[in-house]
Amino acid sequence: MSVILGVGASLPPRVVTNDDLATRLDTSDEWIRSRTGIGARRWAEPGTTTSDLAVDAGARALRSAGLSTVDAVIVATTTPDRSCPAIAPAVAARLGLVGVPAHDVAAVCTGFLYGLANAVGLIASGAARTVLLVAAETFSTILDPDDRGTAVIFGDGAGAVVIGEGEGIGPCVLGSDGRGADLIQVPAGERYFRMSGKEVFREAVERMADVALEALARTGLGPDDVDHLAPHQANRRICDAVARRLGLDESEVLSDLDAVGNTAAASIPVLLADAAAHGRLKAGDRVLTVAFGGGLTWGAATLVWPDVTADFGVLGEDR
Ligand code: UT7
Repeated sequence: MSVILGVGASLPPRVVTNDDLATRLDTSDEWIRSRTGIGARRWAEPGTTTSDLAVDAGARALRSAGLSTVDAVIVATTTPDRSCPAIAPAVAARLGLVGVPAHDVAAVCTGFLYGLANAVGLIASGAARTVLLVAAETFSTILDPDDRGTAVIFGDGAGAVVIGEGEGIGPCVLGSDGRGADLIQVPAGERYFRMSGKEVFREAVERMADVALEALARTGLGPDDVDHLAPHQANRRICDAVARRLGLDESEVLSDLDAVGNTAAASIPVLLADAAAHGRLKAGDRVLTVAFGGGLTWGAATLVWPDVTADFGVLGEDR
């Protein structure tokens, strides 16, 4: 059994509003808000890498946990600084963790939950007693600036948790269907990300609702036991549709889409860190996390929110 010992998040300083995007794309603040719930997103400055955000979020999570070392590091990302090698060893080294096992997880927007299952598994097997799990993205580096169907949706950021032995994280339920691999992809040899928005939307609602119910059942709980739904921040309409299918009230749905958009793998830990740092999430609250993304992949897990001080901040500002 595992528990969260610390949580952190790091956002790049540059805010890009819907109006900023509307100056060069055929879109509007009204369209983006009403169709996605997104009001703004953070984009890293050129030269800022996914590793930079991962290190800052990781350092914040370690500080939140009161630890200076862990037994393993996992980084979930779709946008590693380079395609080879994995960034986890470099992130670990920059955190002063030379020598610890470190690997990346690639499950696009489900990356945090796949990483969580990896972390919990390392602990259950006895390979590690503490794991730093970071989910970090600079999705802006793979967005086609002329594609209004994706450029308005994605943002950059990183979230991290330290996992240790204890009770609080329920069974991680994961799934995939590679028949839909082309729906969310960077085509081989190409630079930019492509998404078939409509198909993904439909599939996301069904898969997220089903896997969330399975995670609840495997924890021995029903929707009434949930204090907060923390869904991958894909689109406000997707999150609300999933909540409706679970019989949850909109007021129980945590959301930071308005400020950060869809940060892919990073979205759930950024959301949790934000909600905890700003008092929406309290020790003892029961949280249902659920995600869907490229692959196609999906996953869900319940959490009992721990008594920790979340460290939510901006890259380059004091931590
Ligand atoms: O994070 C991984 C998982 N990702 C997701 O779950 C994303 C899932 N998909 C979505 O969130 C939505 O499909 C989008 C937000 C991407 C698109 O919203 P939609 O309501 O599905 O719009 P649509 O693709 O059906 O397009 C409706 C119209 C089209 O115009 P016509 O053909 O009706 O004239 C689009 O060209 O809206 C147009 N459109 C836009 N208009 C203004 C598409 N993007 C934009 C835009 N601004 N940014």
